[in-house]
Amino acid sequence: MEKVVFGWTGEKVSQIGLGTWQFSDAWGVKDYETAKEIIEAAYNLGINFIDTAIVYGRGLSEEFIGKALKELGIRDDIFIATKIPGEMLSRDDVFRAVDRSLERLQMDVIDLMQVHWPPLWNNFPTYEYIGALEQLVNMGKIRYIGLSDFPVELIDSARAYLSTTDIASIQIRYNLIERDAEKELIPYALREDMVVIPWSPLAKGALTGKYTPENLPQFSDVRGNDPIFRPDNFMEVYKVVEVLNKIGSKYGKTPSQVALNWIITAYPNMIPIPGAKSVEQVKANAGAAGWKLEYSDWRELDEISRKVYINRVIY
Ligand SMILES: NC(=O)c1ccc[n+]([C@@H]2O[C@H](COP(=O)([O-])OP(=O)(O)OC[C@H]3O[C@@H](n4cnc5c(N)ncnc54)[C@H](OP(=O)(O)O)[C@@H]3O)[C@@H](O)[C@H]2O)c1
Repeated sequence: MEKVVFGWTGEKVSQIGLGTWQFSDAWGVKDYETAKEIIEAAYNLGINFIDTAIVYGRGLSEEFIGKALKELGIRDDIFIATKIPGEMLSRDDVFRAVDRSLERLQMDVIDLMQVHWPPLWNNFPTYEYIGALEQLVNMGKIRYIGLSDFPVELIDSARAYLSTTDIASIQIRYNLIERDAEKELIPYALREDMVVIPWSPLAKGALTGKYTPENLPQFSDVRGNDPIFRPDNFMEVYKVVEVLNKIGSKYGKTPSQVALNWIITAYPNMIPIPGAKSVEQVKANAGAAGWKLEYSDWRELDEISRKVYINRVIY
């Protein structure tokens, strides 16, 4: 797998990363051996960027990663990104949370600590948690700081409080059918040499081609309430999947591989982090890199996906 430069940090990471929210109740991979096999397969495929978070399985995902990297002896080869939730952003909580993550991950330093989402229900001022994170960088517990699900105004405000480092990356919802980030966040990050890490790059499986309007399951996992899978919306999404199927057969690629390739063809500085529940899925997702969609195929997907409107109004 080819490596790309992680923005202004100069670090080299794989073009495709591994999302590990899957190691939780939300997605259902809760046995350690499966998680370890997925991590090992990712490593063998050249994937060296792993995204996790404190809240994934309430620490389970971090715990599995820490144990697996130790047993496989590959800690130094992996760039690990984790996240502190918006509820744990008082100054003292930031220090405690980082200490706990370091313990679960069995590491001395976290490569990228991201703020998972801004404080919503607690009135933690931005300077307080950003200042605490900067101190942790200065003391060598964190190497870089990233922000996830932050609007541009708040990214600017966070950066204004940093003096010895800067924000290295932003993580956002981005995939072929959820493209709002193109309006403000992506141009902002490109201009500032920050990496963009698209989450749900397969639209939680909706773009993989294995779900059709005729066989749409009643999901018992995190997708149960996701508007993408509501039959009226999914009919729209499926128009894109049909084109992914058609273009995929031209290249001998799966719809998932085409959907991921569409992102990195347009934006080489993006590092999508598809989640995998099995070794087969991580292998398939790695096959999204190392080739390029032709311009006309990229454009066809661009146009059809632009027409998709996901209705999120439920009441
Ligand atoms: N910062 C944030 O707020 C935030 C939010 C969400 C996610 N994330 C991060 O982003 C990562 C990815 O997002 P996500 O998990 O929401 O969605 P995703 O990557 O778009 O979709 C993952 C799901 O698609 C299916 N899948 C994956 N690869 C496949 C393949 N090759 N063939 C067929 N099916 C495949 C699997 O589910 P099934 O097999 O059950 O269909 C898998 O659980 C997460 O693991 C997490 O690290 C961050």
